[in-house]
Amino acid sequence: MSEEVIGLSPLDEAGIAAAVAAAQAAFAQASTLEELKVARLAHSGDNAPITFANTQIKALDKADKPTAGKLMGAARKAIQTALGEASARLEAEAEARVLAEEKVDVTAPVRRTPQGAAHPLSVLISDISDFFVGMGWEIAEGPEIEHEWFNFDALNFGSDHPARQMQDTFYICGVEQVGGADFESLTSLIMRTHTSPVQSHEMLRRGAPLYIACPGKTFRTDALDATHTPVFHQVEGLAVDKGLTMAHLKGTLDHFAKAMFGPQARTRLRPSFFPFTEPSAEMDLWFPQKKGGPGWIEWGGCGMVNPNVLINAGIDPQEYTGFAFGMGLERTLMLRHGIADMRDMVEGDERFSLQFGTRGRGI
Ligand code: PHE
Repeated sequence: MSEEVIGLSPLDEAGIAAAVAAAQAAFAQASTLEELKVARLAHSGDNAPITFANTQIKALDKADKPTAGKLMGAARKAIQTALGEASARLEAEAEARVLAEEKVDVTAPVRRTPQGAAHPLSVLISDISDFFVGMGWEIAEGPEIEHEWFNFDALNFGSDHPARQMQDTFYICGVEQVGGADFESLTSLIMRTHTSPVQSHEMLRRGAPLYIACPGKTFRTDALDATHTPVFHQVEGLAVDKGLTMAHLKGTLDHFAKAMFGPQARTRLRPSFFPFTEPSAEMDLWFPQKKGGPGWIEWGGCGMVNPNVLINAGIDPQEYTGFAFGMGLERTLMLRHGIADMRDMVEGDERFSLQFGTRGRGI
């Protein structure tokens, strides 16, 4: 006599068939891999009726064991098959879902990040630099906080020249160290009022011959309005070589004018005065697009480098001559593009810059 069996007997054909059917139904109903795992544990795990029945085979009479073994083998195989089918189905579904969810629509519109625009003054500076480099000149930059000597004395300004007065020049109250003690110096450092001091820096640094263009910021104590700004830009040109004359200056200016304003542009010189040039001239530009009809318009200053400026920079005026010119870049831009109000150029509104295109990033 076999022991009394609690639970499914390995000889209970109907019970085993019911357990198999229950497992097949549960696996078929599972709609996720997690649900299938729960069903697997319930129907073929350690505590499942079929597992229990399997452990009971060894307790059967020897004569019953083959029958029970066959029954149980078939039952476990059926359960494994159903489990395999269900997990294949659910894995395929999960993969299809991942593919669907992670699909990238390459034709969908993207959020465009605006590129921004180089400031028109930066674009102009890089155009001007390209022009001079194209002629074989070099680009030079000097300090914006300048020693008064470079801004004025080196350039042959007399010590009583009116441009040194407070109404034009931003003076920097400097502190100088002398013999370990601090002394307030009200006179030595200024914000440069023009780009001409770069002339002296470069002549001292590189000597002659020298061909340089110097774009940069300049400062004067003007209030901001439609035609003035306390911070503005100039480009300085300086050529020092043997035998340079006013004819070279005029030719250079006409060539520059055409590059900036088109083939019709040309320049005209009117006698003037600058301490650092002799002779000196105001330079006018022939401006075909001038309001009210073509005409001359003032563009900058120029002249032959004053021999005193050469001497101050260690260059022998008997051997070398030079010419120099300087013009305002805001003014150049206003003329070239018909900009009416200088304040548009200092406010940094991208919508203003965008009208000039997004070309380049400036320098
Ligand atoms: N530095 C002068 C100015 O700011 C311009 C200039 C430059 C004139 C070079 C002559 C020669 O007005």
